[in-house]
Amino acid sequence: MTSTDCGRQAVRQLKPNPAMPRESSITDIRATVAASRRISRDVTLITLDCPQISLTAEPGNFVNVRVNDTTQPLLRRPFSIHDAGDGQVKLMVKEIGKGTEIFCRCAAGTELSVLGPLGNSFSTGAEGYDTAVLVSGGIGTAPMRFLEKRLAAMGKKVVNLIGGRTKDDLLPEGLTGCRFATDDGSEGFHGTVLALLESLVPSLTAEGTPRIFACGPTPMLRAVARFSREAGIASEVSLESVMGCGFGICYGCSVEVSAPDGGTKTILLCREGPVIDGGRMV
Ligand SMILES: Cc1cc2nc3c(=O)[nH]c(=O)nc-3n(C[C@H](O)[C@H](O)[C@H](O)COP(=O)(O)OP(=O)(O)OC[C@H]3O[C@@H](n4cnc5c(N)ncnc54)[C@H](O)[C@@H]3O)c2cc1C
Ligand code: FES
Repeated sequence: MTSTDCGRQAVRQLKPNPAMPRESSITDIRATVAASRRISRDVTLITLDCPQISLTAEPGNFVNVRVNDTTQPLLRRPFSIHDAGDGQVKLMVKEIGKGTEIFCRCAAGTELSVLGPLGNSFSTGAEGYDTAVLVSGGIGTAPMRFLEKRLAAMGKKVVNLIGGRTKDDLLPEGLTGCRFATDDGSEGFHGTVLALLESLVPSLTAEGTPRIFACGPTPMLRAVARFSREAGIASEVSLESVMGCGFGICYGCSVEVSAPDGGTKTILLCREGPVIDGGRMV
């Protein structure tokens, strides 16, 4: 099947997602696995032929994948868009359970239902910054390739700070200007990616105004958001939660964020996220 054939198989058009910062065109596609390549011990880079999603995706969006045509697992699984273009979408998938195991074992030619692009996107067009500091941990590095590509096309300087427990957890696939931090010191800076960020902020701010874009485990994001607030640096973080539908119907993805009145409020991460302003992180 060619990618054009695949594109004709959009099976339905869902109602627009009002949280998305552009005209939404979420589609449920029969996508074909074009390639699947293991890039680390437990992470596979999966390329899907799906022209509609590739055409409308924005950095930070995710897709919700039915990993097979049975009811086991019942729910789709959400994955950040690692890269998009030329009629294809790439996903970086870490095996942690049954769904990701099945997905990572899909051979080229396998057809799957893929819903997307979903969620909001990183604010690459925000004003007042010169350097984009992309801070990621573990599989949180997945959306950074697409983000870096967009930022580079806009003429922004991009710095990638990538953290992991050991060097085997670092996933710099397709990224440039990388600085690494490992908990055990097996690669780059010996310590957390937050400590690496803290050490680099004086030189980053001396060169211009930075803006932080972060994705990774929630405790890491909380710490990065708190540090950014205290340092007076604008930040946005891409969160994860358990998800069901992916477009605001099942209420399975509620997370607490700070409210303007100083309290907290609940949002549906699939609609108002996954990217939120670092200042809203609780
Ligand atoms: C917006 C969004 C973007 C994501 N992007 C990516 C991505 O680019 N690459 C990627 O590999 N994964 C990503 N994830 C996480 C991915 O969706 C889950 O790892 C996947 O759904 C797990 O499915 P499973 O059937 O393999 O595991 P399950 O059998 O469902 O779960 C196995 C174990 O992992 C735990 N678990 C399940 N989901 C998560 C989670 N989100 N975080 C932490 N623990 C979890 C479960 O509680 C359970 O203990 C993303 C999640 C969200 C919400
Ligand atoms: S995943 Fe269903 S409402 Fe968000």
